[in-house]
Amino acid sequence: MTLPDTLPKRLCSEAEVDELMARPNDALIDMMRRIEGDIAILGIAGKMGLSLGALAVNAIRAAGVTRNVYGISRFSDPAALIALEQAGVIPVRCDLLDRAAVKGLPKVPNVIFMAGRKFGTAGEEDLTWAMNTLVPAQVCEHFTRSRIVAFSTGCVYPLIPLDRIGCVETDRPVPVGEYAQSCLGRERTFEYFSRINGTPVCVLRLNYALDVRYGVIHDLARTIWEGRPVDRTVGHFNAIWQGDANRQALLALEQCSTPPTLLNLTGPETVSVTTLAETLGRLLDKTVTYAGEPGPTAYLNNAAMAHGLFGYPSVPLAHVIAWTAEWVKQGGRSLGKPTHFEVADGKY
Ligand SMILES: NC(=O)c1ccc[n+]([C@@H]2O[C@H](COP(=O)([O-])OP(=O)(O)OC[C@H]3O[C@@H](n4cnc5c(N)ncnc54)[C@H](OP(=O)(O)O)[C@@H]3O)[C@@H](O)[C@H]2O)c1
Repeated sequence: MTLPDTLPKRLCSEAEVDELMARPNDALIDMMRRIEGDIAILGIAGKMGLSLGALAVNAIRAAGVTRNVYGISRFSDPAALIALEQAGVIPVRCDLLDRAAVKGLPKVPNVIFMAGRKFGTAGEEDLTWAMNTLVPAQVCEHFTRSRIVAFSTGCVYPLIPLDRIGCVETDRPVPVGEYAQSCLGRERTFEYFSRINGTPVCVLRLNYALDVRYGVIHDLARTIWEGRPVDRTVGHFNAIWQGDANRQALLALEQCSTPPTLLNLTGPETVSVTTLAETLGRLLDKTVTYAGEPGPTAYLNNAAMAHGLFGYPSVPLAHVIAWTAEWVKQGGRSLGKPTHFEVADGKY
């Protein structure tokens, strides 16, 4: 496999991964020249937000304009705050469940909403609903005059048979389980406030961001490397390199509308868990074992609309597979946050 000159053959350090993810493309740099005002990223301290914040700062610098990027989270992990400061993001500590604290946030014209709750839902459903519906309501009440890009999930669609080409934005959402239902609740909350206040919104239904340190490919590579059987209950998926997902999320600021624009955000390939596992097995020099047969349905989303707007992802899946296999083989750090992509009953 020959990698294009612009992409490295392997990613050897976290600094290299972070640098690659924070590299803006021309479209994003141009957009930073066009849009006015500061940017606030709510729920920045998670798996995606740190790199999205750094990407926004780099695009602004490359555009030669002056804009502040505020990064809002509780900063449960203090290391995230330091990383953001180093990247040029202004950290703002805030628990978004605290209505009064939300009212104190800087009122900026551009908002990326990334906060949410998934794992731990089973047994604490009320907190998931509060995070995924009450918090968006408080945010919408505060940022009435901003445009808001709100992350959602591809799990608002049902699992579908494999002979379909993937759910499109006009398909009716049929979320399975309380996590996915609360995510549809989040979308409906943004939709409601967008309608009553005229706030422009773009909802991103993301299916699986990929980083060498976490994500479906990372999970599979570790499973195989550690000699555990691969679960194929959900035997197919779509995914996108996190750097591309972040770029598209920022570009989506110009797609906000009333009522909200809905965009599926994922890669163009439908990935077979079996084929991927065999590829990873070869790269890792391991024999793959399986638990069960591939399931008949999967979360499959068609992101043709986003690809039409933003182009195809710049990092092909083959690169992510090669990078991740090498990363796991070399003992690279794992975030220790499994995706649980194999869950088919919606219980997280
Ligand atoms: N990563 C994926 O593959 C994927 C797939 C589908 C959808 N999504 C959605 O995309 C968004 C970003 O993904 P992600 O993987 O980066 O999520 P994540 O790792 O869960 O990060 C979200 C961050 O929000 C912050 N947060 C949570 N509760 C908060 C509160 N009450 N007040 C302030 N901040 C709070 C947390 O940081 P603190 O603890 O420091 O506050 C958390 O790290 C999420 O909404 C997620 O559901 C992601």
